[in-house]
Amino acid sequence: MPTKQTYYDVIVIGAGPAGYASAIRCAQLGFKTACIDSWRNKQGQSRLGGSHLNAGCVASMTLLESAKIYHLLNHEIKNHGIHAENISMDMPQIIKRKDKIIDAISQKMADLFAHHKIDHIHANASLLNGRQVSVMPVATSTPSILDAQHIILAAGSSPIKLACAQIDNEFIIDSVAALNLDALPKKLAVIGAGIVGLELASIWNRFGAETILLEAQENFLSVLDQQISREAYRIYTQQGLDLRLGARVVSAKKSNKKVTVNYQDQDGNHTLRVDKLIVASGRKPNSETLAAPEANLLLDENGYVHVDENFRTNLPGVYAIGDLTLLGPMLAHKGIEEGVFVAEHIAGVHSPINYNNLPSVIYTEPEIAWVGQTEQALHAIGEAINIGIFPLHATARAQAMGKAEGMVKIISQAESDMILGVHIIGTQASELITEAVLAMEFSASSEDLARTIHARPTLSEAVHDAALALKERALNLPPGK
Ligand code: NAI
Repeated sequence: MPTKQTYYDVIVIGAGPAGYASAIRCAQLGFKTACIDSWRNKQGQSRLGGSHLNAGCVASMTLLESAKIYHLLNHEIKNHGIHAENISMDMPQIIKRKDKIIDAISQKMADLFAHHKIDHIHANASLLNGRQVSVMPVATSTPSILDAQHIILAAGSSPIKLACAQIDNEFIIDSVAALNLDALPKKLAVIGAGIVGLELASIWNRFGAETILLEAQENFLSVLDQQISREAYRIYTQQGLDLRLGARVVSAKKSNKKVTVNYQDQDGNHTLRVDKLIVASGRKPNSETLAAPEANLLLDENGYVHVDENFRTNLPGVYAIGDLTLLGPMLAHKGIEEGVFVAEHIAGVHSPINYNNLPSVIYTEPEIAWVGQTEQALHAIGEAINIGIFPLHATARAQAMGKAEGMVKIISQAESDMILGVHIIGTQASELITEAVLAMEFSASSEDLARTIHARPTLSEAVHDAALALKERALNLPPGK
């Protein structure tokens, strides 16, 4: 807690990717900055990084790495002529490793805050009238009020609760508890085959749990290019994920140390008995207690904070960024860019964000990553396009890695050849997509990518070859394949 200073140039509420980045950029620009966040780890200690680090993507991918190794040792290593016997897992140690990594990253963030002389206040904050913030410290519960010239709201989002599946965090668990299981469930179900549901299912399925995904929508991963989502469906089901589409969960009850799940699909009512049920039915902005009623912060009917194109709320000097607003999807890197944008906007610098070139990633195995428009969306607006597709199995590197599933798909405008979308499913898709983002940021044509020299053997050759395939001149693939 600050001792004397109660006035800041900027107060940031929330230390997730958006708030954390914004606080650092504000400090770099010379503003006296405070960042207030109430996150506590299992030991009750303050942690920076928000749910993205502590209970979201980073936590999830850390466990996925362990799950991939376990799966490799059990199922894939024999192909390499290597024999591993008596493979076992120590789940508490796996969780401990994850927590240690998170702690180390959070500590590095705290060091950076200290370096930039940002006051990190471990407290619950609430916006008051007239650029004031009410602060309730987690440790002392002695409230105080801070004033600032500018206030940046970056309080993030949290899992949506379902009335039909009440969370007890023992048998019916949310996506946070699903990253802290101390034993492998034999059989588990997940409500929701969105990004969160798929990432969690991918982890526990790789560890060996029988995993059933119940998704109310008929259309699998409808935000994706449909060719990629069809390929994802094929690969996931082949891996043993039991994906049930058009399956709406209507009730879930704990009984005899198991969960009975009732769901409906076009064939009628069904019942499942599982050891754990994970609820991954979406996220909502953390705006319920973010502002006192007298502050009159304008929210929409779903709790999203209303902002203009410069992230200004209806209150003078108050901004909102990241998952709190409806500008773009709930993505950590989107929040980071918005945090930087607002800091620079306050300093009088305007550096616009190009939402058209925002990459998205699903961290399953294999990964899915995309940027720009889908084939379906472009057809819907009558855009004439060309498409180049290259399968990963035709690259030497993917074959050598034993990770040959998936493809790269590049879509370009027929008239100008400008790249309009790139869609990748395959190992390290999250890394490969950056080349596509950069190309699109520079308004590159598919010809530009085709003429760019790619190192061989690398996975990135698949991006190169997809650009060549667009003109039917991929060297490593017969035309029309
Ligand atoms: P989501 O809205 O994408 O998916 C939730 C799914 O649950 C929906 O498809 C919905 O139809 C289904 N559902 C809801 N109620 C149901 C019921 N009763 N029975 C069966 N199905 C039901 O939400 P999700 O996956 O929680 O993701 C939230 C946000 O977080 C997304 O915007 C995503 O972009 C972001 N996110 C991004 C990550 C990344 O960048 N890798 C990782 C995690 C989240």
